[in-house]
Parts: sequence; C-alpha cells; structure tokens
Amino acid sequence: MIGARAAQMLLVLAWSAGRAWAGAPSPPAREGPISAEEYRRFAMQHDGDAARGKEVFADERRLACTKCHSTDGKSGRAGPDLSAVGDQFARRELIEAVVRPSATIAVGYGTTIVETASGDEHLGVLKEATDTWIELACGDGQRRRVSKDSIAELRSGELSLMPEGLQDGLSPREFTDLIEFLVSLKEPAHAVTSHHGMPDNIAPVDPLVALRPFLAEPLPVPSPGLVAGQRIQSGVVWFAQVPGCSNVFLALDQSGIIWRIHQTPTGDRRGVFVDLTPDVFSASGPNGLLGLAFHPRFRENRKYYLNRAASRKQFPIS
Ligand code: HEC
Repeated sequence: MIGARAAQMLLVLAWSAGRAWAGAPSPPAREGPISAEEYRRFAMQHDGDAARGKEVFADERRLACTKCHSTDGKSGRAGPDLSAVGDQFARRELIEAVVRPSATIAVGYGTTIVETASGDEHLGVLKEATDTWIELACGDGQRRRVSKDSIAELRSGELSLMPEGLQDGLSPREFTDLIEFLVSLKEPAHAVTSHHGMPDNIAPVDPLVALRPFLAEPLPVPSPGLVAGQRIQSGVVWFAQVPGCSNVFLALDQSGIIWRIHQTPTGDRRGVFVDLTPDVFSASGPNGLLGLAFHPRFRENRKYYLNRAASRKQFPIS
C-alpha cells in the first residue's frame, strides 16, 4: 500500500516533470490545454524566429524531432529528411504536418507493425528487406532488424509513426518559431537554377495563364475491388513523358498499375503499360509502387527502374 506521504511525493514528482516538459519561457497562464486550432491560428497570423525554432526542433528532452528527422539530406531515420521541406510545402501544410501527422502520410513512410512469434511487437518504418531479415527505423532513432523466421505477423498501421500532440508542451510562440524553422528549410539558392527547388522570388505572371487539366479524363481507379477498403494506398504518385516521345506519357498508380497515355489529335488513348498488382499489391500492406526512373540511355536500351515499397509477398508468412 502506498502511504499518503509517498502518494504526495509522487504527485510532486509528476508535477515537476510536467513543468520541465513545458520548459521556459513558460506559456501564458491559462486554463486547460491549448487546442490545435489555437496553435494553427497563431502560427498563421504571426512570424516566428527560425533560429529559436531550430533549438526547439533539436531539443532532445522536449520534442525530439531530430530522433526521426534529419535536415542534412541523409534520410536514414524513421521520418523523411526535412532539408528542403520549406520548398515542398506551404506554411499551412507544415502546420498541419505537425498538428495532424496522420491526416496525410508521406509516401513511403507509412508505419509497419511486426509481431514476432515470441510475442514482441515492433513499430517502425520499413527501410530494408532481404531474403532473411527486414529492418525498421523506429521512433527512438534506432534501427531494428527482425529475422524473417521470427515474424508471426506483419501489417501496415493506419497512423503515422509521428506522434500526435507534439506541440502540446510548447507555447504558441515557440510553436510558431518551430514552423518558421521548417519554412526556412530550403534548397540552397545556388542549386535553384540547376535543380527543382523553389526560387526565393517568383515574379507574378502577366498576363495570367489559365490552368487546364492535362488529361481529358481522370485515370480510372485500377480495380474498384482493390481500393474498396479505403485503407489501401492508391492514386497516381508519378507522371512523366517517355523520353523521345513528346506525346506519350506514363503514370504510376501506387497500387501497382503503370498507365500509358498517348495524346493524339483525336483525343487520349490510354492503356495498361504494366500491371504489377500481383507482385506489388497487398491488401494489408506495406504496399506501393512509388516511382520510376528512366535509364539515361533509355532510347537505346529501353531500361527503366522502379521504386516500390517492400511487399509482404517478398517475405511470405506461413
Ligand atoms: C517518432 C518519430 C517522429 C518524431 C518524433 C517526429 N516525426 Fe515528423 N514524421 C515522422 C514520420 C514517420 C513522418 C512521415 C509520415 C507522415 O507523413 O506522417 C513524419 C512527417 C513529418 C513531416 C512531413 C514531411 C513530408 O515530407 O511529408 C514534417 C514537416 C514533420 N514530420 C515534422 C516534424 C517535427 C517538426 C517534429 C518535432 C515536433 C517531428 N516531425 C517529430 C516521424 C516523426
């Protein structure tokens, strides 16, 4: 039985731990927690201090963003490298990525849950798979290798590995600093012209141009049966012109279909270029055809390379 004094001690300990988490400067005195909406609004209406946000980002005792994210272009951790995240996303999207991580999950960074025969459970982002083992990048910043023999079940989780509510220990001001830091993460200016980064200044177009859909009709869902469960990742993830053919394009659907679209004066002709669903698709995940790269000499050798998430079928479980 815990005596009254001991219980009181525990309370004091819990209270001071909470204070340490909240850190200094302490948030303005107020009743109850700050809602996600308040953080969102404050960060949309105020400028932050990116240098202070960088400290918040790297503070291991508080948010530990650095346990899962690098900002130097090396992407070995559980979450995506964020070195150019300010080019990729607008301020509002960056705010959403932090306050509602599971609302949209970055392609290729879904959560994989592995249960072993001995009853252990591992949660992480699948990074590598061989004939004999798979390797997960986990939320504690560690890599965990699980031998294929010991896996009892492997499935994909619906939630992001990134925890919800990370902002809760921050004042709205600190949260805004953190967002300002993310906004500031851009490709270096010298890389802009030679790379696909976003230029710092974009002159307004004059006269305005109209945006028209590229395809006359949207691409069909590969097989309605496949996506009936809605948990399946599906949709076009990559699109490009075939080298050497100015009117032929390929579009990759994440569920495993590659469409070929031939634009002709009489309209689009489309067909299935490759159907990889038997190989790539798994109703319980991990799942996904993620990208395609043409060989630099594709016109001569017709070679191309596919990037796909390791599938359950590569390590079948009896
Ligand atoms: C436990 C690991 C973990 C921690 C801690 C974590 N993240 Fe994440 N984060 C992820 C994963 C995994 C994803 C990709 C899945 C998703 O989109 O939610 C992600 C996605 C993101 C994205 C979207 C990137 C993209 O390319 O779509 C941003 C921005 C981000 N995190 C910022 C942060 C910030 C800021 C912190 C600290 C407050 C943080 N993360 C803490 C794991 C983590």
